[in-house]
Amino acid sequence: MTNPADLGAVGEPTLSIVQDGPGLADAAAVIVADALVAAVKRRGRADLCSTGGSTPPAMYRQLAAAPLRDRVPWAHVHVWLGDDRFVPRDHPLSNMFGIDEILLDEIHGVPLPIANVHPWPNGDAIAGDLGPDWCANAYAAEARASVPLDSAGVPVFDLVLLGIGPDGHLMSVFPGSPAIGSDRLALGIAAPTHVEPHVPRVTFNPSILAATPAVLVMVGGESKAGLLAQILDDPRVDPASSAGLPAQLARRTNATWLVDAAAAAGLRPRA
Ligand code: 6PG
Repeated sequence: MTNPADLGAVGEPTLSIVQDGPGLADAAAVIVADALVAAVKRRGRADLCSTGGSTPPAMYRQLAAAPLRDRVPWAHVHVWLGDDRFVPRDHPLSNMFGIDEILLDEIHGVPLPIANVHPWPNGDAIAGDLGPDWCANAYAAEARASVPLDSAGVPVFDLVLLGIGPDGHLMSVFPGSPAIGSDRLALGIAAPTHVEPHVPRVTFNPSILAATPAVLVMVGGESKAGLLAQILDDPRVDPASSAGLPAQLARRTNATWLVDAAAAAGLRPRA
């Protein structure tokens, strides 16, 4: 589905630099809210594909506070995840954690119907000893049955949120990942040994980044500065190679990279 040879044909993203971590969460929440409002206005429903990492919880808190909480038509919003760790939903490593603890909090959360939240079916897979591949196939089928599809059968989420991992991965697509170029929409991934946490994953194919009208990549902190410069300023490297940076798959015109000043410190000046 993702042809690494097409990487050169995808243009460059929009870069937006904010002051700090709280600024990142605030700006991301506004972009998410705007996308949800626009999608519901256009087609009566919004499908957000969210992410794990450290930024989403602070962003969810902004979405759950005035004024954004009252602006988004939550009854028509559906929330998905681009990837997850293959652990039960209530496990602290689960990417569902922030969604469940903040957005779905009974008192301080948002009026998002529980049926509109789509976790990877890790719990069923683990209980039935069915494995990450079964889980990935079940999630792919659920997404295909629920989200509009492009001509290749890839779900068109209204907005895909991403973070970047310390090795340049996005979702659970690591350098040299079998997901790159795969014809499967979602895959089980063996536990990585080079980055934590060392648990198996489930992930969408990065083909969802080409199908969606909008990708939002959130990057904060000085520890990401060198990596970010490599991803955005260096020549593209084949992400299917072990030296590749899959996050370069989000270096494309339909993406906005929202970056705090510390992470942006190593970037070359833009015109
Ligand atoms: C994982 C992480 C990872 C995360 C990035 C960004 O499963 O390895 O969830 O994909 O999104 O590491 O993390 P930060 O938001 O903390 O920079």
